[in-house]
Amino acid sequence: MTVKTINRPGSLDTGPPFRPNRAQEEPTSRSARPIPLPTVPPHGGDVYAAARSLGTPVADLLDFSANINPLGYPPCLRQAVFDSFDLIRHYPDPDCRELRQAIADYHGLSASEVLVGNGSTELIYLLARAWRPDRALVVAPAFSEYERALETAGLAVDFFVTSESDGFLLKDPPELGADDLIFLANPGNPGGGLLGPERLRPILETWDRDGAKVVLDEAFVDFREEASMKALVGRLPGLVVLRSFTKFFGMPGLRLGYLLAEAGLIRTLARDSQPWSVNVLAQVAGRVCLDDPDYIARTRAAVDRERKALAGALAGIDGIEVFPGAANYLLAKLTRTGWTAAELRRRMLRQGILIRDASNFRGLGETFFRVAVRSAEENRRLIESLSRCLSQG
Ligand SMILES: Cc1ncc(COP(=O)(O)O)c(C=O)c1O
Repeated sequence: MTVKTINRPGSLDTGPPFRPNRAQEEPTSRSARPIPLPTVPPHGGDVYAAARSLGTPVADLLDFSANINPLGYPPCLRQAVFDSFDLIRHYPDPDCRELRQAIADYHGLSASEVLVGNGSTELIYLLARAWRPDRALVVAPAFSEYERALETAGLAVDFFVTSESDGFLLKDPPELGADDLIFLANPGNPGGGLLGPERLRPILETWDRDGAKVVLDEAFVDFREEASMKALVGRLPGLVVLRSFTKFFGMPGLRLGYLLAEAGLIRTLARDSQPWSVNVLAQVAGRVCLDDPDYIARTRAAVDRERKALAGALAGIDGIEVFPGAANYLLAKLTRTGWTAAELRRRMLRQGILIRDASNFRGLGETFFRVAVRSAEENRRLIESLSRCLSQG
């Protein structure tokens, strides 16, 4: 594993250049020429662009590019949100008091250790702005918004690139100094692997002892709650645990995430955050989601079963190597000469199936792609299409 300092995006050999989606922004200068769309979308889940390119409705697409609970959102969520609809006549609670208490109860923490955001992405940007570290590090391959948020805050970013032979897991952690900041996801995304508490706890304790600040992104840990490090919140003052309602509770469009951290840090971050960023319906939704233990248990059982079945089926396709995953997605690699994930994505899209070309993650090459775990029937369609594409040569 190596640490590499990146001064400009894409300037080193840690993978293909990072391509943020700035091309889709409106040109600001009057002389600006049209900017071509990026060849690799910066994130999965842009069903709107994919549907436009095919000339089909979004509903006709089978989206394996974003990792969302295949059971959908909890059954009682729709009614609860509609029943609360008239609350939109008021501003939302700027402190999300009831939701913070519900989150705290759910995790066995205090409400003063919870901060809620408009998706965990908002909180990533807030953290990058609020902290002024000497050095900012990202364990790669990783969610590209860490890098973008740090750069937007004017920070140079170092990458600690995990290796394919380690299954993209942090086997050999970097040493950190006082006031260094590191972003690490567990389970990793796109890698999918999980560091168990017995391996991760000593790493976090060492970093904390050395005075570093750590953002542990647990956006996907709900699928494996026993591996969460939330019990260390408050005990390790430099630890922030980031969580999301997007993936497990199947509501990416409503935007809801939160972080868990020591109460003093929560107060500081809250002072820097925008008022009313969490809308009133999202606040209701969060409370409803956490109050449905049956849905939570069914999700864990279904995703575990379907992930194992999908991993087996992918491994059975000649020309695909699949990496072990712990959550609701799997990273895979094309092993047949000449094949790229970009080409595979194009071919799959023609069949109405969207996969994530993972070649623009730092540390991955052009043969990597990622698929979500969906229902047994949808996974069967994915496998059929992949087999058909690869057999066409
Ligand atoms: C690892 C990881 N963290 C955080 C996020 C952001 O999720 P959200 O802003 O929807 O909570 C994502 C989204 O893809 C992700 O993959």
